[in-house]
Amino acid sequence: MANVPSFDLNNGTKIPSVGMGCWMSSPGGGERVDTMCLSALKCGYRHFDTASAYANEEQVGRAIRDSGIPREEIYVTTKLGNRDHHRVKEAFEESFEKLGLSYVDLYLLHWPQGVVNDKVLSPEEHPTFIETWKEMEKLLETKKVRSIGVSNFSIKTLEELLPHCSIVPVTNQVETHPCYPQTELKMYCEAKGILLTAYSPLGRSTIFMEDATTQAIATRNHTSPAQVVLSWAVQRGTIVIPKSEDNGRMLANITLVTLPKEEMKLVDALHEMPNMHKSLLMFDNKGDGTVFGWSYAQLGWDLVVGGQVVKS
Ligand SMILES: NC(=O)c1ccc[n+]([C@@H]2O[C@H](COP(=O)([O-])OP(=O)(O)OC[C@H]3O[C@@H](n4cnc5c(N)ncnc54)[C@H](OP(=O)(O)O)[C@@H]3O)[C@@H](O)[C@H]2O)c1
Repeated sequence: MANVPSFDLNNGTKIPSVGMGCWMSSPGGGERVDTMCLSALKCGYRHFDTASAYANEEQVGRAIRDSGIPREEIYVTTKLGNRDHHRVKEAFEESFEKLGLSYVDLYLLHWPQGVVNDKVLSPEEHPTFIETWKEMEKLLETKKVRSIGVSNFSIKTLEELLPHCSIVPVTNQVETHPCYPQTELKMYCEAKGILLTAYSPLGRSTIFMEDATTQAIATRNHTSPAQVVLSWAVQRGTIVIPKSEDNGRMLANITLVTLPKEEMKLVDALHEMPNMHKSLLMFDNKGDGTVFGWSYAQLGWDLVVGGQVVKS
């Protein structure tokens, strides 16, 4: 069984540092999701990351139930969709029903921006993400969810949210990998007791598999570039949720190595190479610096059109 360390969250609960991402490149995924989750459970994964927007909560929940592994041994995250900010209680109940589990470990506010009647709300329009968060706090009283957190929040949006929180988010799930280490956000979150979760920790691409630095570190440590990147992320104190449907790759992703200090520094410095400090997800697919209807400035993201980082 894989030896995966757990991290402590600010409410006294623990989370396995490696989880299986369940975004299947498009909503749904059908039986591929059942197969992926069952294989993942067999090779030692005890943490699954889904969302109402992924349209596969039913399959994730079913695989967990079918595995026969005690519920308490598995960590399950799902997320509130952008179209549901004005109906938090109902949307959570729908996710809860679909998962079919006795409780959800973690419920995330997937994005700060809400959508009502197909219109993206501006940051000032109601419900604001502060109002949505207040509704999420109430969910904890139901005991159907153990922790709540946020996703895609920046220092700017956290600065707006935190003064109004009765419950501090346990995590902020954001894009981070060696090209986009988000060091400033990580330090800010750590100071507030919020653990960073790295989504797309492999960059959703082959960039790190082909990079000379990660390849050389992999050779020296008798491992693969993907394992170098994931081990670096966990060693720097972030949770990772890589997605893989391939049995060999999913096993590799949960098999961490300990990187010597010098090699950690080399990966830390990868984004300093020319044209390497950037988001790799192309959320700004309209090329106008907006992501699901909000500008980078409204999101507080340190990116410019094209996804390059403007400051470290
Ligand atoms: N909160 C958010 O807004 C948000 C946004 C994006 C993602 N996420 C979460 O983060 C999870 C992971 O992110 P992601 O799926 O975007 O990207 P990722 O995990 O960085 O990359 C996944 C891709 O890498 C391949 N891969 C996996 N392991 C590999 C390995 N060892 N060697 C080579 N290739 C490998 C996978 O293909 P195979 O399946 O063929 O192995 C897949 O094409 C998602 O599934 C989702 O749960 C959250």
